[in-house]
Amino acid sequence: MTYMTHLECARCGRTYDADQIMNLCACCGPLLVRYDLKAAAAAVRPADLAGRVSSLWRYREVLPVRSDEHVVTLGEGMTPLLSVRRLGESLGLPNLMLKDEGVNPTGTFKARGSAVGMSRARELGIRKVAMPTNGNAGGAWSAYGARAGIEVTLVMPVDAPAMSVLEAVAVGARAYMVRGQITDAGAIVARSAKAHGWFEAATLKEPYRIEGKKTMGYEIAEQLGWRLPDAILYPTGGGVGIIGIYKAIREMMAMGWLPEGARMPRLVAVQAAGCAPIVKAFHEGREASERWEGAETVAQGIRVPKALGDFLVLEAVRATGGTCVAVPDEDTLWGLQQISRTEGLFICPEGASLVGAARRLREQGWLQPEDRVVLLNTGAGIKYPDILRPELPVLEKDATI
Ligand SMILES: Cc1ncc(COP(=O)(O)O)c(C=O)c1O
Ligand SMILES: [Zn+2]
Repeated sequence: MTYMTHLECARCGRTYDADQIMNLCACCGPLLVRYDLKAAAAAVRPADLAGRVSSLWRYREVLPVRSDEHVVTLGEGMTPLLSVRRLGESLGLPNLMLKDEGVNPTGTFKARGSAVGMSRARELGIRKVAMPTNGNAGGAWSAYGARAGIEVTLVMPVDAPAMSVLEAVAVGARAYMVRGQITDAGAIVARSAKAHGWFEAATLKEPYRIEGKKTMGYEIAEQLGWRLPDAILYPTGGGVGIIGIYKAIREMMAMGWLPEGARMPRLVAVQAAGCAPIVKAFHEGREASERWEGAETVAQGIRVPKALGDFLVLEAVRATGGTCVAVPDEDTLWGLQQISRTEGLFICPEGASLVGAARRLREQGWLQPEDRVVLLNTGAGIKYPDILRPELPVLEKDATI
């Protein structure tokens, strides 16, 4: 069962009944799910989790779905936390680890947010969902929508990765493209959802997607035997993942799941140099970001010119003593090659940007050789068939090589 109690605005603190259909607070702030963590802690101890289902649903008490019959799952979560020692040693970080979200259904961590978001949508009786997407979230929400029997409408930039577009259409989504950025897609969705009565599921415009993503934080703690790492690097677009991980760690601390005096990992928001509004705001000491003009990067999932939850990302980074890093595309492509060749991990460009960031942070002395560092790789390289363009020699049939 769930110990969900209510929704709370992350901006003004106003509370709402969790069992009504909600988007934003009256003040336009995002709503977060709150639980009776005392009761949850009394009901389940970390040791009780061991025999549970190997998916994010093992953290059932702190997930926002009331009845098991509404759970929509494709087996998402409990992804491997791998030691990447060969890569780490080349960067001067021998204790480097990578959480590989690429093995999730639909190939990215977006499966987590859509599994929980769609389950809750089904529970609340929602029949039609619409959202803007850079690609991966669209693929995932469409897949879970098909499984839940909920109609999905997507609007995405014309240059969204072909594989995600194909995936979304294959599982039956109604998809549109816009000559513009995800923020332009968002404006179209907002206008149209109102006109058609669709439920708007844009990043942080509904309260439940983040609850799925926060389970990455629970898993990292559990997989490390409830001992947190020193730093977690996260490729930040809308920022839901990093906000979710921060929320998860605070929940675990409140439930007494972590050792007495456990320190927060320093959270690092990594963005692309071609679209780094949150990094800029961090270094300028601001509480929120300004829209980034002319956004461009190979890491399309983190091409978000203005995030609704930017102030929450900045809060999570600052509260944990973390930092923000902008990575040029050439460093991302270098990172992709480096991790593929040293570890056999063909990851997505968003995840590869973390390799460039880790190198930079080690060179600057911000990361120390003994630090236990987790790179949160958000997806699989195979979702980006155009990211590398190898030119292979073509042989005649009678050739010997
Ligand atoms: C592969 C990948 N990584 C990272 C992100 C950014 O996610 P978040 O909203 O959690 O910042 C996205 C979002 O589209 C993505 O597709
Ligand atoms: Zn509010």
